[in-house]
Amino acid sequence: MHLMLLGAPASGKGTQATRLAQRFGLVHISTGEMLRQACVEGSDLGILAAEYLSDGQLVPDHLVVELVLDAIDRAPGGFIMDGFPRTLRQAKAFDTMLQQRDLPLDAVILIEVADCTLIERGTGRRIDPVTGQIYHLLFAPPPAEIAGRLEQRDDDSAQVVKERLYIYQHTTSEVVTHYQQQNLLTRVDGSGPPDKVFDHIFGLLSLNPRQAEQ
Ligand code: AP5
Repeated sequence: MHLMLLGAPASGKGTQATRLAQRFGLVHISTGEMLRQACVEGSDLGILAAEYLSDGQLVPDHLVVELVLDAIDRAPGGFIMDGFPRTLRQAKAFDTMLQQRDLPLDAVILIEVADCTLIERGTGRRIDPVTGQIYHLLFAPPPAEIAGRLEQRDDDSAQVVKERLYIYQHTTSEVVTHYQQQNLLTRVDGSGPPDKVFDHIFGLLSLNPRQAEQ
């Protein structure tokens, strides 16, 4: 299965992609996670990307497309894209990649959440550096024994979350239109609790006979 999750910053893409990847045995390809990892490792890519990430700006298309190209070639059993594509140019490059490999997308799910909720989710997010698990101080509180080791992402300050939201609204909306025109896009209300959002997405995927066979 080849899936894509679209949605604004902190809409719940990572949370749902993790669950869907486990449920369907897919490789979870998160460009944000790969870029953050490159920054931690101090690779050439990480050095180039660091400033864009901390300011909430998009990393140049060619760098991200190169990363994704490599990642899909290492996911022969299927993938779920999280955070890519973010621009029309990335979407078109991705279409070409998939056509060349004869890998049609099965579904593109757009998770929709109100802006005020996005800011609340982004600023309250905390990550466990040991397991990579995503928590939220209010909505998905961590067990007490690990609370002390949780980290906040550099780009989760209120100011940077707002900047990322502005960029999403002015750039990534073109990507939504792109997949809508291909009749691949399904909108999902992401405002409920994670289990409810997951059940909704799972139900949609199970209804599609092509995916149910896989
Ligand atoms: P990236 O890591 O992709 O960030 P993002 O798209 O802004 O999305 P987030 O990771 O912030 O949120 P999410 O939707 O995954 O939500 P989550 O599940 O964590 O990108 C970061 C940066 O990398 C970009 O700004 C850019 O610089 C660069 N980059 C990445 N990809 C790029 C690309 N393709 N091109 C160029 N640059 C790129 O949930 C958020 C919080 O809410 C969590 O605390 C969670 O516990 C909670 N939560 C989740 N679901 C629910 C729910 N249903 N109810 C209540 N709380 C919930």
